[in-house]
Amino acid sequence: MKDPIVEIDNLQKHYGGSKGFFGRVRKPVKAVDGVSFTIHPGEVVGLVGESGSGKSTVGRTLLRLHEPTAGKIRFDGEDITHATPQRMRALRRDMQIIFQDPYSSLNPRTRVIDIVGEALDLLGPLPKAERSERVVQLLEQVGLTGDHLRRFPHEFSGGQRQRLCIARALAVRPRFVVADEPVAALDVSIQAQIMNLLVDLQREIGIAMLFISHDLGLVEFIADRVMVMYLGRVVEMAPARELYANPRHPYTRALLSTAPTVDPRAARARKRELLQGEPPSPANPPSGCTFRTRCPFAVDACAVERPAYRQVGAGHFHACIRDDVAGGQVVPQVA
Ligand SMILES: Nc1ncnc2c1ncn2[C@@H]1O[C@H](COP(=O)(O)OP(=O)(O)OP(=O)(O)O)[C@@H](O)[C@H]1O
Ligand SMILES: [Mg+2]
Repeated sequence: MKDPIVEIDNLQKHYGGSKGFFGRVRKPVKAVDGVSFTIHPGEVVGLVGESGSGKSTVGRTLLRLHEPTAGKIRFDGEDITHATPQRMRALRRDMQIIFQDPYSSLNPRTRVIDIVGEALDLLGPLPKAERSERVVQLLEQVGLTGDHLRRFPHEFSGGQRQRLCIARALAVRPRFVVADEPVAALDVSIQAQIMNLLVDLQREIGIAMLFISHDLGLVEFIADRVMVMYLGRVVEMAPARELYANPRHPYTRALLSTAPTVDPRAARARKRELLQGEPPSPANPPSGCTFRTRCPFAVDACAVERPAYRQVGAGHFHACIRDDVAGGQVVPQVA
């Protein structure tokens, strides 16, 4: 297998934790608390979990839009954990992000020609005619046209704006893209169009992607491999088909039992294990397994220590000590 393009080793991102007013110590929010994974060239890895589980923080920290608290980030073999701003600027060509809200990520006073053109400029200056020709090509690639060149973002629908953001991200020919809930802000009817576009482009260009969503159905549609996150940690990862057919961790099973699915047989086979209540605060997570306070299978031992990863199949890992429930053999490290 080719070397990974992204390697994340024990990544942590804690927010705050500084001394508060009157010297009171505020606990840090452990948004990401020891996450390790790899993404290979051309691979789409899905990252799912409830709101607040730390998905966006993983995506932004690995792009160094946020500074990591601890851990290691490697891109294409290079350790970029502490890369300088200059180095990161150069690397931006190779690593791009598509955000959930296509409006706030576009400058309202910039015309389409420059929104996409300025991204192109990162590759080096182009003669004017060539530049706009290339912008038109990119617009057409995402289902827009050259007629849109002089328009401003507010003259587009939500779906068109997201197409524009995708064109801008692709302009630099990145090798890796973080797509952070790219269709969550769009009408359901438009979501399918944008998902199809992303899948087609991904296949065409062979770009590697971290696809973030709380919607398991969307992730199933696009991802080769899926990671399930809970309160700052990855509790299960597996090839996509395997995860949906054979979920092991009680949290994954609960998530899947509440999610709509494309396969009705799988839906029937899943017993409903509804998620109760809200996740605890990442500023004050439970000891041991952080899911234990909502887990129907929790026993006293779950409170004692952070569960090690167990392997249950090729590329399939989970972090649950209830071997009778989830199965598997303890493995020292997961990547
Ligand atoms: N800039 C910040 N300062 C302080 N806390 C933050 C900051 N950004 C995120 N958090 C906290 O970190 C945790 C993880 O947030 P994050 O946005 O990564 O979750 P998420 O899984 O992307 O959620 P959603 O599905 O709602 O987008 C949350 O508890 C959040 O409140
Ligand atoms: Mg998010």
